[in-house]
Amino acid sequence: MSLAIVRWIAGPVLHATKQGPFALRESVRVGPQALLGEVVRIHDDLIVVQVYEDTTGLRPGTEVHGDGQPLAIRLGPGLLGQIFDGLLRPLSDTGSAFVQPGLRGPGTARRHFTPQVVAGALLGPGAVIGEATGGAGRAQRCLAPPDVAGVVESVVPPGDYTDEATVCTLRLGDGSTRALAMSHAWPVRTPRPVTRRLPTEVPLVTGQRILDCLFPVAQGGKAAIPGGFGTGKTVLLEALAKGCNADVIVYLGCGERGNEMAGVLDEFPTLTDPRTGRPMMERTVIIANTSNMPVAAREASIYCAITVAEYFRDQGLHVALMADSTSRWAEALREVSGRFGELPGEGGYPAYLSSRLADFYERAALVETLGAGIGSVTVMGAISPPSGDFSEPVTSHTKRYVKAFWALDVKRAQARFYPAIHPLQSYAEDAREFAPWWATQGNGQWLALRRRFLTLLDEQAQLERMARIIGKDALPARQQLTLLCAELINEAFLRQSAFSEIDRVCSPARQAAMMRLLGRFVDGAEAALAAGATPERIAGMGCLRALQRMGEEIADDALPKFAELQARLERELAQLTPAAEAAPPAAAPDTPATPEARDAAHG
Ligand SMILES: Nc1ncnc2c1ncn2[C@@H]1O[C@H](COP(=O)(O)OP(=O)(O)OP(=O)(O)O)[C@@H](O)[C@H]1O
Ligand SMILES: [Mg+2]
Repeated sequence: MSLAIVRWIAGPVLHATKQGPFALRESVRVGPQALLGEVVRIHDDLIVVQVYEDTTGLRPGTEVHGDGQPLAIRLGPGLLGQIFDGLLRPLSDTGSAFVQPGLRGPGTARRHFTPQVVAGALLGPGAVIGEATGGAGRAQRCLAPPDVAGVVESVVPPGDYTDEATVCTLRLGDGSTRALAMSHAWPVRTPRPVTRRLPTEVPLVTGQRILDCLFPVAQGGKAAIPGGFGTGKTVLLEALAKGCNADVIVYLGCGERGNEMAGVLDEFPTLTDPRTGRPMMERTVIIANTSNMPVAAREASIYCAITVAEYFRDQGLHVALMADSTSRWAEALREVSGRFGELPGEGGYPAYLSSRLADFYERAALVETLGAGIGSVTVMGAISPPSGDFSEPVTSHTKRYVKAFWALDVKRAQARFYPAIHPLQSYAEDAREFAPWWATQGNGQWLALRRRFLTLLDEQAQLERMARIIGKDALPARQQLTLLCAELINEAFLRQSAFSEIDRVCSPARQAAMMRLLGRFVDGAEAALAAGATPERIAGMGCLRALQRMGEEIADDALPKFAELQARLERELAQLTPAAEAAPPAAAPDTPATPEARDAAHG
């Protein structure tokens, strides 16, 4: 191993004179505590090292040892159900948020291994060698590293082994042998190879109506959640982690306040997965690098997280990665770059901010894996633009790489309208592609309804501006109805509390039923208006209140209630028009909710 001697230290950056060869991006150990670092620059006889741990107390003359390989993490069945720091060192084992400096690698826990290969078999790169069960996570496939292939020489019998114990020996093409364990190392900055990337056609079901119905993200797609201070980014990401239909969740807390992360750390271990009824942690990996942890490790944490996500994808699973927040990551990039003395670009960020963001988001994909069928990584990254200004560099660069943009709005958040996603500032480029999928979920009209809703919301914004000047009652009847319908869509459909037992996750079937019902209301109300009903009478319909509260009141397993509600809607619509009024009502009407409606019904 090569050696270098520290000459100069400033925070997380040090210069050392080298006494042997070093490679760019080689990982190194610094000093007696073996602090982890990475070579980021090489001059004639000098290396510049970025250290991922606290350098307090280091002095010139300290030794730096090269590892002879890039910064790598160990990927194996021990990851699920655990909490790690930004360099993937377990936090859950130590019982505190602080890890021993230099400590690295998985624990010594044993789990059950069942081989799925036999001696003599040909093993391709990334192939499945067996299944691991036991420990905190769900059953998992164990993979050969993506860069090895050969003939299986020996396999261990089923039994309990540690993650790093040899379970299989391969004879490679060149005649040498290679021992495989349940886990293997992989460099974090290198995307894990795949057979091919596939076009995305199916959305990730998030359980949030405004996202699934208006701004869907693909399974294997990428979404950004920009939002000013306190607009609900963390609550939304947590809601997605709890409610989305991914097989595995990788949750990265990156540079956020310790108490926010503590919320996640405290809450997740107590949750059950609404889809399977199993503990949520069985399908979750949490990576926590809070604002008080070393800044350079924050820069690395995003690569660790996406590498972990790719590892589960390679097992043929659908993975969702939530990163909170990419702005804090970009700030780490800026801070470290400043220490290198690099020329600052826009907003003080280094010139390579954009390409780094691209590197990260490009690793999201739906793929055919090397050895385990189809898998995907969907990335959702929060952005905290200073003073909520979306034209700042991190937001504007991220916009170029994501397909779904879920803009959180300060005004909505202040009005406690959650999730505070602004329906006019947000977009989903892939939306059209998901129409066939929605048709399989009983919503063949989805694309048309989506367009309808968005148009109404857009018209509402314009009309409200006008109404502020001339007064709402002075607007023509048609426009008053537009305002009524848009308001109903907001209240009944877009509003969804993350803390409501019934409504925090909404199944696609329920979303479809709600969307259709609201679409029917809009059509029916417009027809009634054309037939002579006044906006006041429409606003006085008794079922409006029931429509508004349906999200909170009709649970996923009570879908027939939507049919009852629809029947009531049809009855009340029929009573709106003068023709219907002349004839006696077919059935006893429900008691209308507002005084005006009562007057009208009995007048
Ligand atoms: N979907 C929601 N349902 C109900 N309440 C919400 C929702 N989203 C946010 N809130 C409320 O808003 C508060 C702030 O949300 P949150 O902490 O997620 O904001 P943030 O954008 O992450 O803030 P910061 O910029 O400080 O990280 C929460 O404590 C909660 O009370
Ligand atoms: Mg937050």
